[in-house]
Amino acid sequence: MKVKHIASAVLVAAFAVACGGPKTAPVEEMTLKDAVGDKFLIGTALNVNQVAGRDTNATNIVKTQFSAIVPENCMKMEEVQPEEGKFTFEDADAFVKFGEENGLTMTGHCLIWHSQCPEWFCVDKNGKNVTPEVLKQRMKTHITTVVQHFKGKLKGWDVVNEAIIEDGSYRKSKFYEILGEEFIPLAFQYAHEADSTIELYYNDYGMDNPGRRDGVVKLIRSLKEKGLRIDAVGMQGHMGMDYPKIEDFEKSMLAFANEGVKVMITEWDMSALPTASRTANISDTVAFKKALNPYPDALPDSVSQAWNARMKQFFDLFEKHADIVDRVTAWGVTDGDSWKNGFPIRGRKDYPLLFDRDYQPKAWVKEVIEEAKNAETPSAE
Ligand code: XIL
Repeated sequence: MKVKHIASAVLVAAFAVACGGPKTAPVEEMTLKDAVGDKFLIGTALNVNQVAGRDTNATNIVKTQFSAIVPENCMKMEEVQPEEGKFTFEDADAFVKFGEENGLTMTGHCLIWHSQCPEWFCVDKNGKNVTPEVLKQRMKTHITTVVQHFKGKLKGWDVVNEAIIEDGSYRKSKFYEILGEEFIPLAFQYAHEADSTIELYYNDYGMDNPGRRDGVVKLIRSLKEKGLRIDAVGMQGHMGMDYPKIEDFEKSMLAFANEGVKVMITEWDMSALPTASRTANISDTVAFKKALNPYPDALPDSVSQAWNARMKQFFDLFEKHADIVDRVTAWGVTDGDSWKNGFPIRGRKDYPLLFDRDYQPKAWVKEVIEEAKNAETPSAE
């Protein structure tokens, strides 16, 4: 049985109301984090505009609705060490300050990833791959410096991101090319050595896929066999209207938990647009463009209803498995912030997050809050 987070503000408020005490958080004012209570942390990614205080509508949502934050970009390798030995922590420090001021649980994202990795990291001055020894040293310096910089501030780190592909084998990244499978245990070892109290996570997308699921299970086992610590698996929740299947996602949640790690739903968003491949050429034809970007003005009610229903189904799944789920994190605050407007193809208008462009909660979020209010309000008889 896992230790749950601090007692729900709702219960405290309900008790205070019942006792005629101070109404610190009245049931009528419940927010998403109150509704989730101590089941799991409910988080969001923050962009640098929000961190710098340039989007106070969004930061007000973060302060009231969420209990956890993760930096969308500002702790990534190319952001914190753009040149060898030149560490830049301004944005990341501002992120931490915001989290501390608002009592939010913070996670670091991410230490080793093939993407948003500065070009210099794996090659020498001539662009040739560095030797295994040099890469190990660079990884060690990066991980040690970054983890120690934030020591005592964060709950955990995504140590390695997106290293296993759909057939369960390793992604053929530069890290793999130079160090082979060893780069993952090394990253976990360096992170642990830098801070033995920080939680260590492996994070990946498409985790519903059976091949990747098996690959990640094998990875957890091999880390443990080597005597290394892995505290949780982060399942990126980049979803669409037609993927993943809930049963497949659930199977993976259970498979990871079965290996003795916690499960985190990280990077949650659900595109409301037709699923498009990254290679689609949006300049093809006007008709094609329209088909891929069908809601440039607003989401039609029927699509919105289907989207809300599907988000609620996933949320219900996370609640059903609250005993193994430690955190659920949305990948952005409002639809306008979402990376999905530009990915996998640019120039679309998507509606994937928990709050809309007017900073209003989506219908399913309101429903979750209403359900919690009803559960807390003593029925009048
Ligand atoms: C994305 C950010 O949202 C974008 O702003 C950035 O341009 C690219 O990266 N998997 C991850 C995240 O682990 O870090 C990615 O975030 C989305 C996919």
